[in-house]
Amino acid sequence: MVQDTAKIKDVFRRRLSAWYRRHQRSLPWRKTSDPYRIWISEIMLQQTQVDTVIPYYHRFLKAFPDVYALAAAPLQDVLKAWENLGYYSRAGNIHAASHIIVNQWGGRIPDTPEAIKTLPGIGKYSAGAILSIAYGQVLPAVDGNVRRILCRVFAIRKPMDDPGEQKKLFDLAAALVPAKHPGDFNQALMDLGATICKAKVPDCSNCPIASICRAHLLDLQNILPITRKAPAIPHRQAAAAVIRNSEGLLLFVQRPASGLLASLWKLPGGFIDDMENMETGLQHRVKEELSIAIRVGNKLAIVHHAYTHFRATLQAYDCRLLKGAPEALGCQEWRWASPSDLKKLPLSKIDRMILAAIASC
Ligand code: ADE
Repeated sequence: MVQDTAKIKDVFRRRLSAWYRRHQRSLPWRKTSDPYRIWISEIMLQQTQVDTVIPYYHRFLKAFPDVYALAAAPLQDVLKAWENLGYYSRAGNIHAASHIIVNQWGGRIPDTPEAIKTLPGIGKYSAGAILSIAYGQVLPAVDGNVRRILCRVFAIRKPMDDPGEQKKLFDLAAALVPAKHPGDFNQALMDLGATICKAKVPDCSNCPIASICRAHLLDLQNILPITRKAPAIPHRQAAAAVIRNSEGLLLFVQRPASGLLASLWKLPGGFIDDMENMETGLQHRVKEELSIAIRVGNKLAIVHHAYTHFRATLQAYDCRLLKGAPEALGCQEWRWASPSDLKKLPLSKIDRMILAAIASC
């Protein structure tokens, strides 16, 4: 067994690199050296699986082939290209960042950690990933997958999500990144985490670094890493109003420019507090949003959706406008929408689900 730490690091790098040369996943952002494309891929890959990202990546780059095209596009077009990919603040951040890149950086993605981290949507992980892959900078890209691998290889028995431990794991990863091809090394770790050193049932028999992995040697691979107990996920109730005008068009609102699902469109309504009654809660949300009084009728549909920090149940009610004309009070805009308008507007998953449920009842 390899004992000495310097030697372990050396073996770690060499075996992982050799494995990556043979087994790397063929991914579209690995066929380019364009920092713009690499930046887009890394933002899309935040919290999102590779297979989900691939079609979005292709469509997005067809619509916005460079940072100038992106900066010139309306936010609504960028949100539409992002529809169903989730974590919509990423689309707003990419769009805002494109203006900064064009206006302050002459259209070039900044190439230092300090500069790139000033762009909206780029934290330590994405900065390391983009700079190492696009510019060959010797920086680690440490996410939960990399932390899991390091906890196993070095048999670290402290909770890997503990802030102090995260810092130590970052330093450990930084010490491992080689001067040559750091981007490949970081992507090799990503591939190892995705295909071999998986969270559940790691495939140690095919692992290129099993012989230096202390968890494997001690048979701890199913115990490590240790994480702190996750807090219970709250469940929130929401209600939506289905209000049609005399032409059968549907009243639709655009969400505020910041906050959950910013700038996407939806039916009027919102979250209902535990203490509130569904119908009166819906009347209040619609009044706050549009300054109109409504009568709440039959329940038309119910859908469920899981976000990162909470689960939501959304119920849609057949409603009638009783008093007032809509005004954009708690929303950016409102409109009467036809079915073809609804296809063009950017909507979140739960709002598409509720529309489909209403259409089928
Ligand atoms: N996850 C985040 N960045 C990635 C990349 N460049 N390749 C594969 N998975 C990733």
